Amino acid sequence: MKKVAIVGIGMTKLGNLWDKDFSQLGLEAGSKAVFDAGLTSKDINSLYVGTMSSGLFVEQEHTGSLFSGMLGLNNVPATRVEGACASGGIAIRQAYLDILSGKSNVSMALGVEKMTDVSLSQATKALATASSQNFEAWFGATFPALYAMIARLHMHKYGTTEEQMALCAVKNHKNAIHNEYAQFRKEIKVEDVMGSTMVSDPIKLLDCSPITDGAASVILADEESAKKLTDTPIWINASSQGSDVISLHERQDMTTLSATVKAAKDAFLQSKLKPKDIKCVEVHDCFTIAELCALEDLGFCKKGDAGRFIEDGNTHLNAEISVNASGGLKAKGHPIGASGIAQAVEAVTQLRQEAKHRQVDDIKHVMTHNVGGTGGTAVVHIFGRD
Ligand code: COA
Repeated sequence: MKKVAIVGIGMTKLGNLWDKDFSQLGLEAGSKAVFDAGLTSKDINSLYVGTMSSGLFVEQEHTGSLFSGMLGLNNVPATRVEGACASGGIAIRQAYLDILSGKSNVSMALGVEKMTDVSLSQATKALATASSQNFEAWFGATFPALYAMIARLHMHKYGTTEEQMALCAVKNHKNAIHNEYAQFRKEIKVEDVMGSTMVSDPIKLLDCSPITDGAASVILADEESAKKLTDTPIWINASSQGSDVISLHERQDMTTLSATVKAAKDAFLQSKLKPKDIKCVEVHDCFTIAELCALEDLGFCKKGDAGRFIEDGNTHLNAEISVNASGGLKAKGHPIGASGIAQAVEAVTQLRQEAKHRQVDDIKHVMTHNVGGTGGTAVVHIFGRD
């Protein structure tokens, strides 16, 4: 099997970036990645752009052409991919498959979203297009509402508490203090989460990921190119993707994201690793309940046990498994189409041992987990130093 590595990373600060537009964000992240790889834009053979809803957020479609032109990519094939919040993860996977196919030696994955140019209600409506229009969005179900149903059922079936969910937000905010790219770099307490505005019972404001602008990019290369370019290539040990029905009511068990289960099983098979070999994972915590479901569905604890697993401190930095050392979507920010790529940037930073105060000790592999919608799509990658 051919090997593919990440040889360059770049990202913008995440947050409410009123002074930068959509194209400037993509240009900044992409240029940083090209520079980090020690390449020029002429060395890149293909581009995959992940963005969920640039049309509704900034009235810009045709983003493959837009960024290939802006980045000076010499008219290479440039393709936009969309899988809701998993668009970034899919872009990495497509770049990976492009290299495996032999069509490209070097490929760029770029994720961009600019969400704050519209009002909160417009953003909420745009996000809801990632749920079923016929069965969910049309009836007024927003994403906080859909994840609130998952949370209620998890609480009912397994005795999970709102405080256990709040602990995810507390930990992720704590980790984000050490991340210069993060939207929120302030510590919060369980009482703050519990006392924050109710968004959709039991999900409160501080259980939610925010509305975020930002972009992230990674450059992938085949083995020969990677070894020429860098002494520290970060290898893609596994790249997998799963799907499920789009609406919650059609699922056998709303608390299990079977797309994640499928993608994780495949990733462990590809990498010949087991959950106990992973000491650092970036999971898709768009809401705190999503972090609990992810830990169970990825195989890091038993179904129904995530609340207790978190309460026992297992997910803190350098504990049993470091979960969302970057601050996660919750505190680092969630610029939808860029989030999956920002997770890969964190994985590479950790494996290069460049994460400073949030560095996870002695890691060989990092897993990233990127979900579209309530689990209609899931992408899992495992990165490693060999
Ligand atoms: N976490 C932490 N702080 C947050 C926050 C969040 N998610 N969202 C907003 N804040 C802070 C703001 O910085 C602001 O702080 P300040 O008063 O110190 O400046 C304050 O809370 C109010 O911010 P505001 O922008 O008025 O919040 P809002 O009511 O417009 O939006 C949510 C809050 C939770 C409704 C919004 O962030 C949201 O919809 N999140 C979910 C996004 C989503 O569904 N993504 C897709 C997932 S699948």
